[in-house]
Amino acid sequence: MTPQISLLYWYTQHGRHDLPWRTTNDPYHIYLSEIMLQQTQVKTVLERFYFPFLERFPTLADVATSELDDVLKKWEGLGYYTRARNLHNAARQCNGVLPDNAHDLIQLSGIGRSTAHAIAAFAYREALPILDANVKRILHRYFALSERNDKKLWDYAYKLFDPSHPYEYNQAMMDVGSLICLPKKPLCEQCPFEQWCEGKVKPLSYPEAKKKTLKPIRKRSIIVHQRNKKYALKQRNEKFLHRLWGFYETEAVTYGEYIGHITQHYSHFTLEADVYITRETFENELFEWFDVEEIAQLSLSRADHKVIELL
Ligand code: ADE
Repeated sequence: MTPQISLLYWYTQHGRHDLPWRTTNDPYHIYLSEIMLQQTQVKTVLERFYFPFLERFPTLADVATSELDDVLKKWEGLGYYTRARNLHNAARQCNGVLPDNAHDLIQLSGIGRSTAHAIAAFAYREALPILDANVKRILHRYFALSERNDKKLWDYAYKLFDPSHPYEYNQAMMDVGSLICLPKKPLCEQCPFEQWCEGKVKPLSYPEAKKKTLKPIRKRSIIVHQRNKKYALKQRNEKFLHRLWGFYETEAVTYGEYIGHITQHYSHFTLEADVYITRETFENELFEWFDVEEIAQLSLSRADHKVIELL
């Protein structure tokens, strides 16, 4: 028995074989799933985003020929919108036809080395290992590595890799990472690597703990300007939440009637905002006026959706 055979055997018995991106060979479907799953859990992707997106954009060519705002609309609520912008850009870069190998996939917007390897292994059976957060944790434990060092970790990824079963090996690693080799409570007795894992005695020490940096809190006021039945919104032009629509947000003066508070966690800060509403005249050429039905057609950030719930 080898660790690779043990893993394959475990995967045939316990793997999540019915995930929809595992029952297709369509590179676009696989690519889409990998991008959605980068920062979002399987359950959320599966229940709310993967199928509606494919229904709206059945092929990558449909993404390429659509407007970015339409792609963002289908991404609304999933967060990390750079993924959607990159997807749209990548679709145009390759004219709606994905390259058939990792080397060329990496050239596209938003496709890093691990994602390229995942797409190539799953869609084309190219013999390359992946290195996402789950696989990193397995490797840290398996080889008892405390130091977080991606460059070295890639070497270990190749060491454990089974090049004769790239598809099953990589899918199995993802499943061991999300079902067995859990961050806080690894289920070592059920792990196919148990007898080879060097970190099994103290799995929680691998990798070493991250230095905790507290996320900054950004305090803001959001002022909803209302005129008749319409509300003022602006399409963001800055990098953060680029092209998503939002209400007027300010650091300084507040006015209007207080209607509530919202909290929104982002990767690099937490937004804490008091929300006000006013019918005062508001002259600002960056803002456009929309009624409720029109707002439903726009892409809004989660925070702005929370504001709407207060109205
Ligand atoms: N996360 C990223 N890719 C995945 C896949 N193919 N299956 C399950 N979870 C994943």
